[in-house]
Amino acid sequence: MIGLDEADHLASASSRYHHMQLVSVLMSRTAKQLTMDQALWCLIGLLHDIDYDETKSNREKHGLLASQRLEGRLPREGLDAIRRHDHRAGLTPETDIDFALILCDAVGLILEESGARIPVSLDDFTELSEKASSQKPWLWNLVFENPLLDRIDLSRLLEFK
Ligand SMILES: [Fe+2]
Ligand SMILES: [Fe+2]
Repeated sequence: MIGLDEADHLASASSRYHHMQLVSVLMSRTAKQLTMDQALWCLIGLLHDIDYDETKSNREKHGLLASQRLEGRLPREGLDAIRRHDHRAGLTPETDIDFALILCDAVGLILEESGARIPVSLDDFTELSEKASSQKPWLWNLVFENPLLDRIDLSRLLEFK
């Protein structure tokens, strides 16, 4: 499996580096709550958008190209989560990691959109989500209709220091 240093180096070449760092922290916290592999989930967050710049004009390839580039460097479930995280690739999320990456990605986007940082209270985050969703309505559903919310505490994800 790819090491954290190499993953960080790869991610740092992308215009989405800060976003991927944030998603990686959120993924690690989500894994902790679900007692899953925190190191792996952190890596998936850190690498999920490494093809973002190359797929700018061809978003149906977003995630697919990244997953191809990481073949053999991440376990299958990690590659699948990266392939399935953006609906424009036309794939359906299936596993906990898939839904976690979709959740953490959307939480990250809402925070970035609002210029907010973690820690943030759930009330403040909900308000920021409403605002962000007026421009991008799908963001709300990706967070608040995410099936993982039955099993994780969103406030702990946001407020955890
Ligand atoms: Fe993405
Ligand atoms: Fe992303």
